[in-house]
Amino acid sequence: MKNKALIALMALLPVACGGSDTPAAPALDAAAVAAGKKVYTDNGCDACHGDTGKGDTPTGQAFDPSPRDYSNAEWQDKTSDEQLRKVINEGGAANGMAATMIPYPTIQEADLDNLVTFIRSLKK
Ligand code: HEC
Repeated sequence: MKNKALIALMALLPVACGGSDTPAAPALDAAAVAAGKKVYTDNGCDACHGDTGKGDTPTGQAFDPSPRDYSNAEWQDKTSDEQLRKVINEGGAANGMAATMIPYPTIQEADLDNLVTFIRSLKK
């Protein structure tokens, strides 16, 4: 699954970069984004983080701290895929964040890759 997503991404790169003077951001694999969105809604992440990842749902806003705004480019740029994977699997408390971000240890491998790709797709 991981390789398949990578191959699809590599196939898209020349299209995204070809012929342009300004370097385009690497294109995200649309299938991986869609699959990641499904993992996100199936696991109820949207209840707190919201459809668009802004953390602006009533449930999300009821927490202090409330979830980050995933559309924030500055946050996206300073947060590694590895950090995202760790917090999702281990939860907030194990990573110096609020325990309201509960651990999801059963989300693994391909689902986790797709979920991270979906979160990246929310960057504005
Ligand atoms: C019960 C509400 C709730 C649910 C459900 C929830 N989260 Fe969170 N999440 C939070 C809160 C609150 C924070 C912020 C914690 C902090 O900043 O201390 C957070 C933080 C995070 C972070 C860390 C962001 C950073 O700044 O590094 C990630 C990644 C994340 N959540 C992903 C997910 C994913 C993926 C799911 C679903 C599998 C999910 N969350 C489900 C409430 C939730």
